[in-house]
Amino acid sequence: MTYTEPAWAKLNLALDILGKRADGYHELRMVMQSIDLADQVTVSPQPEPGCRVTSNLLYLPKDEGNIAAKAALRFFEASGTPLPGLSIDIQKNIPVCAGMAGGSSDGAAVLRLLRRLYAPEMTEEQLEEIGARVGSDVPYCIRGGTALAEGRGERLTDLPPLPPCHLVVCKPSCSVSTPELFAQVRVRKLRCRPDTAGLLRALEEQDLEGVARRMYNVFEDVLPRRYGEVFAIKGELLGLGALGASMTGSGPTVFGIFSDREKAAQAAETLSGQYAAVHLCRPVQREIKS
Ligand code: C5P
Repeated sequence: MTYTEPAWAKLNLALDILGKRADGYHELRMVMQSIDLADQVTVSPQPEPGCRVTSNLLYLPKDEGNIAAKAALRFFEASGTPLPGLSIDIQKNIPVCAGMAGGSSDGAAVLRLLRRLYAPEMTEEQLEEIGARVGSDVPYCIRGGTALAEGRGERLTDLPPLPPCHLVVCKPSCSVSTPELFAQVRVRKLRCRPDTAGLLRALEEQDLEGVARRMYNVFEDVLPRRYGEVFAIKGELLGLGALGASMTGSGPTVFGIFSDREKAAQAAETLSGQYAAVHLCRPVQREIKS
């Protein structure tokens, strides 16, 4: 038998860093949103013990270096049962090293599948706790939808859904190392912060323009000069009619929010003449319930 789940990509509508913690991680305040760009993750039990990962992206690690395999190991450690034979296949559609939590979302899909197969009595909170041991974004990726993520990223509050809209997502060719970017941040020196409280109010009021206008990611403040494409794409999206545009996660992907489908499609077409990875997406609401 094989079991498949979509692993949705995420965007940050806001990303704020509040301080550095004693454990070396940073205290975050992020507004997260799932979108309908997804990897397909398939788990199949195997007679031989051990966990093997295959993918259409041949260079992805096949062992614990892959967050999907790490998720399986943490799941069986937590449930106190030996690791059975498992093969995990990942059909990758989410750009890698893009700030869209592609790896974390694959790990989250593995955890959801393993709960379904081996521990249906496990609560979502327990699954999210295991997810936090796999990676900071994994708990959010387990639940998806629109959520506030605080602490390391594991303290989650569901939010009203992002109002219906169209998202143009564009990844420039440069790549950014997440730990390196965190290391650049001096919290007291950040010149601009997202208006997260105002953004949450705009979500309550289902005011799409209010959300779009308040989006911001503090990592934009510390991007090295060589990532100038990020700001060029932001400017282009706004010029092409986006209500707001921001970088997601530690980048370098940039997205714009549009209320008008035609304008969004036109913007996606214009950008795809210049950048290899351009996607026209819709938000995805939370489906998983504990
Ligand atoms: O938890 P995860 O392995 O996804 O984090 C990757 C890296 O991002 C960490 O090693 C750390 O450098 C940085 N990070 C951080 N603060 C967070 C989340 C991640 O400094 N809240």
